[in-house]
Amino acid sequence: MPAQRNKTEDDITAEVLQRFGETPDPRLRQIMLGLVKHLHAFVKEVELTEAEWFQAIEILTEAGRMCSDKRQEFILFSDTLGVSMVVDLISHRKPDGTTESTVFGPFHRLGAPELPAGGNIAHLDKKGPPTLVSGRVLDIDGEPIEGALLDVWQAQSSGLYDSQDESLGELHMRGKFRTDAEGRYLVRTVLPVHYPIPSDGPVGRMLRATGRHPWRPAHIHFVVSAEGYEPVTTHIFDRKDDYLASDAVFAVKDSLICDFERHDTSIGEAGRLGIDPPFYTAEFDFRLKPSSEQGSTALDAQRRLAALGAAG
Ligand SMILES: [Fe+2]
Repeated sequence: MPAQRNKTEDDITAEVLQRFGETPDPRLRQIMLGLVKHLHAFVKEVELTEAEWFQAIEILTEAGRMCSDKRQEFILFSDTLGVSMVVDLISHRKPDGTTESTVFGPFHRLGAPELPAGGNIAHLDKKGPPTLVSGRVLDIDGEPIEGALLDVWQAQSSGLYDSQDESLGELHMRGKFRTDAEGRYLVRTVLPVHYPIPSDGPVGRMLRATGRHPWRPAHIHFVVSAEGYEPVTTHIFDRKDDYLASDAVFAVKDSLICDFERHDTSIGEAGRLGIDPPFYTAEFDFRLKPSSEQGSTALDAQRRLAALGAAG
């Protein structure tokens, strides 16, 4: 059949779909056909102009240029467009008694030090109220998991992660903790604060142009993993935060909200660790299920992401 000329926009869509229809890998074929179908439909629905098309290319180019070992603008786009949470929810559809996951975010870094129980991840933060986060890592039957690894990261009380803070030349507010024989962990930090996501790039311009605020409710990030179990990437959130209902990246789940309780007298672990009041405590138990498959896990995916640009 001779090649057809003077094609309509629908002819082009059909031809592109037909060419990708030969993709040998069935999953890649499904993804490419879905991508073309929806991308073409989107362009036709909004009747994208050439100027807008060029602006999109500029935005993507700028996002790429902003990515470094300390910055991941594409994850920020994914998060603020709600895509990260849709992927999260598809991947963890059924509530199964395990700790719910949420976005990985753009601020994880490799190389956090392994600290003993009660180790202080906030040793340079003199402003935030001291806070102890404790709890256990359990299996789905409620039995403790010994030797589970908690990779913890958090913004400083200034609202900046270490990678955003030019006055810092080192990792800060990051640590790895192991559970003891009873599955217990203890992290010393400062009270988490709400903070705006970075707004000096194309994501920030998108939020301003669309009248959206950039705030994330106060939280602490965790990746909890243990040999033979599915790792979980999650946060814990402060119940008192004003932005729980309007998180800029849509990442709040009810089961991840916990109480950060204020104490005005030195009691318990705080006394033993020499922490002067006022200080805060929060308790949260993580529950993991046995890993269903060997090989590629969520943690591997995070390592790949970290290698892309959240590392450092
Ligand atoms: Fe965060």
